[in-house]
Amino acid sequence: MNAHTSVASPALAPELPDAALAFRAAMRKLAGAVSVLTVGVGDGRTGLTATSVTSLSVEPPTLLITINRSGSSIGPVLQERAFAINVLRPHHQAIADQFAGKGGLKGAERYQGGDWTRLETGAPVLADALAAFDCVLEDAIERHSHVIVIGRVVASRITESAQPLLYWAGGYRSLAD
Ligand SMILES: Cc1cc2nc3c(=O)[nH]c(=O)nc-3n(C[C@H](O)[C@H](O)[C@H](O)COP(=O)(O)O)c2cc1C
Repeated sequence: MNAHTSVASPALAPELPDAALAFRAAMRKLAGAVSVLTVGVGDGRTGLTATSVTSLSVEPPTLLITINRSGSSIGPVLQERAFAINVLRPHHQAIADQFAGKGGLKGAERYQGGDWTRLETGAPVLADALAAFDCVLEDAIERHSHVIVIGRVVASRITESAQPLLYWAGGYRSLAD
């Protein structure tokens, strides 16, 4: 071992095996863009904060997101068969916290303080998102603790000259940090 390597400390999560601790510690080094998935209508709306969003293909335009099977959003996504991915900007940190369930907010409560609109499917879209992708559900693949959700993008919008909210090493960041 040299100055550039270290092993995860089991003291952080003693219930996890060493391999899982090492994986978790290494994944903390992977910077991610912060998005919120939004689904549903009115009081039935819910959603989650996610860094697992990535592009799948351009032709056809598809993306994927991995969603924990034990969470409250996977059921509505499978039922509605439509959702939106909203890529956040630095001033959306409170929205990111709300959709991560901080403060115990659930369902439609997580939408407070945001400016919401719609594109094609009717899924809620954050009006000032850095980018927003309106999707219909193309496939859902259960694997381990998560479901790999594939969305066919039917509409998208962007905010020009804006910056992303990032998540790295357990905290929110922006490009200037
Ligand atoms: C920065 C960040 C990234 C996250 N990424 C994901 C993700 O990609 N997939 C996921 O299932 N949960 C992810 N989560 C956790 C969910 O946001 C969180 O478990 C969920 O909103 C809890 O809501 P629930 O208890 O109603 O299911 C992330 C949380 C944070 C703070």
